Amino acid sequence: MSDRSAIALLGPGAIGTTIAAALHEAGRTPVLCGRTAHPQLILRHDEGEVTVPGPVLNKAASLSQPCDLVFVAVKTTQDADSADWLATLCDENTVVCALQNGVEQKTQLEPYVNGATVVPSVVWFPAQREPDASVWLRGQPRLTLPDTPQAQRIVDALSGTRCAVELADDFLSTAWRKLLQNAVAGLMVLSNRRAGMFSRTDITELALAYLRECLAVARAEGARLSDAVPQEIVDGFHRAPADLGTSILADRQANRPLEWDIRNGVIQRYGRAHAIPTPISDVLVPLLAAGSDGPG
Ligand SMILES: NC(=O)c1ccc[n+]([C@@H]2O[C@H](COP(=O)([O-])OP(=O)(O)OC[C@H]3O[C@@H](n4cnc5c(N)ncnc54)[C@H](OP(=O)(O)O)[C@@H]3O)[C@@H](O)[C@H]2O)c1
Repeated sequence: MSDRSAIALLGPGAIGTTIAAALHEAGRTPVLCGRTAHPQLILRHDEGEVTVPGPVLNKAASLSQPCDLVFVAVKTTQDADSADWLATLCDENTVVCALQNGVEQKTQLEPYVNGATVVPSVVWFPAQREPDASVWLRGQPRLTLPDTPQAQRIVDALSGTRCAVELADDFLSTAWRKLLQNAVAGLMVLSNRRAGMFSRTDITELALAYLRECLAVARAEGARLSDAVPQEIVDGFHRAPADLGTSILADRQANRPLEWDIRNGVIQRYGRAHAIPTPISDVLVPLLAAGSDGPG
């Protein structure tokens, strides 16, 4: 038998801690790989909390064997800095589950994974890091994966856990549906406000106009999404707790780099490729990019 570890979790932040806790509760505790060393991880949820035994390793050299399954939950802005970990954890027999936003996880991770198969996912639940380094899970954990043979390894790992997994025949449309939701959440960064801001009439109108722009680009990329999607997404924000944030807002408030390119820049880039006008992106994207990367 190989002495490969079965499962590793790279990036034990908000999403990574949630998945690590789900795996641990089912007796499949992953190897924890991060940037900051921690003795353990703590997930708080509505019914209590889960402690995932560590330590969180912070040097790729601590491991000598690749893993069968690697969940990647670093921010997409941190992919390149995670290269040593990915080179150590992955070989051609590894399945990498990208727990990241956007529609470009496969192309962005593939250069780092030694020929492993990258399976993108849509992460449907909100979670946030708290000042004491615990994570607050603010929804029912749920992932959507493309219905491919490699996805089965992820389904098996998460079977019987608190994280539900769905397989989508038309994953591309599902991923774009989530991207639209992420894109419009970027407005929270510019106002420095949480979901409650969508109750304003002027923000609702702006959000709907931006979502219609995003929808045109999504359809040009092959997503099958109905005309009702912009209103459905805005209705979702109207129903959300007023204090519900978004990971890009948390990054802005902590003065960290923003995932502006994979959440908002992507609409402008693909819009240009399809000759679709993107006037709202043309204002939003430079402001998000400058807020993230400066200078100034
Ligand atoms: N949070 C949400 O509600 C949510 C929902 C849906 C999708 N997503 C997406 O999920 C992805 C992860 O987001 P998140 O909110 O979980 O991020 P996060 O809380 O910032 O977690 C990122 C983790 O990666 C670690 N990390 C950073 N650089 C690293 C490196 N070079 N090597 C190893 N580990 C490294 C961080 O360590 P440190 O502790 O040192 O910072 C942290 O533990 C993003 O693409 C995000 O858009 C998030």
